[in-house]
Formats: sequence, structure tokens, C-alpha cells
Amino acid sequence: MSNIKINHLAIVVEDVEQSLAFWSDGLGLSLGGAVEDVPAEEVRVAFLNVGESHIELVQPTTDDSGIAKYLAKRGQGMHHICLEVSDIEATLVDLSNKGYDLINDTPKERDGRRYAFVHPKSTGGVLLELYEVN
Ligand code: CO
Repeated sequence: MSNIKINHLAIVVEDVEQSLAFWSDGLGLSLGGAVEDVPAEEVRVAFLNVGESHIELVQPTTDDSGIAKYLAKRGQGMHHICLEVSDIEATLVDLSNKGYDLINDTPKERDGRRYAFVHPKSTGGVLLELYEVN
């Protein structure tokens, strides 16, 4: 039993505004907020509302970040999934104790929200972001 939920699915794109043409204008999803630059992560992001979850469009804003290299190598497409957990520190310790590979051993924080990434080699090939939502 768990109360883990899907928070968002993230798609790496070359241009957020250009991609919004499909997701917002075409499909009709509403924006969850303003398109936003996140200098700490070297990205520009837009969140679209899908029920209680979101689709995140992520555009690298520098050439040398991990996500910029990912885009250069693989092109646009699925980048990560994000699950909400109730206690991110406990989840990270638990995963680490079980031998899984974390990208962030301790949570980072943005806008009062704590998050961390789990390495794709532990998840079956998909980058996993964890959010603590209170
Ligand atoms: Co994300």
C-alpha cells in the first residue's frame, strides 16, 4: 500500500512556446502557471494541467547541462516521470539502503517544494523525479 501519486510526466523540447502550440492550443490543456525560467536547473518549463497531474515541457537554456546533452543526443521526447511521496527524505534513505542509485542523496528545494532524482539504471531506464508535496 502506498499513497504515491503521479505528479507529472516531463517532455524535453527545443522550444517551450513552440511545443505549447500542440499541448495547449491543439489539445486544449490549460497552463498551470506562467512559462518559467529555472536558472538553478538551466531550463525553461511549462506545466500543463491534466486532471490532478501535469505534463511538464522542459527546454534546456544552456548547452552543457545534463538535459541539454540528453536533448542533443536523443532529440525531443520523454525525459522523466515524477511521483509524489509523503516523506522524501525517508524515501531516499530507504531506496539507498536497498542499494538503488540516487542522483540526489538529499532533496533539493524550489518554491518550497522538495525534490530529488533517482538514476535510470535503478528504475528500468527512466529518470525518476520524486516530489514531497505537503
Ligand atoms: Co520534473
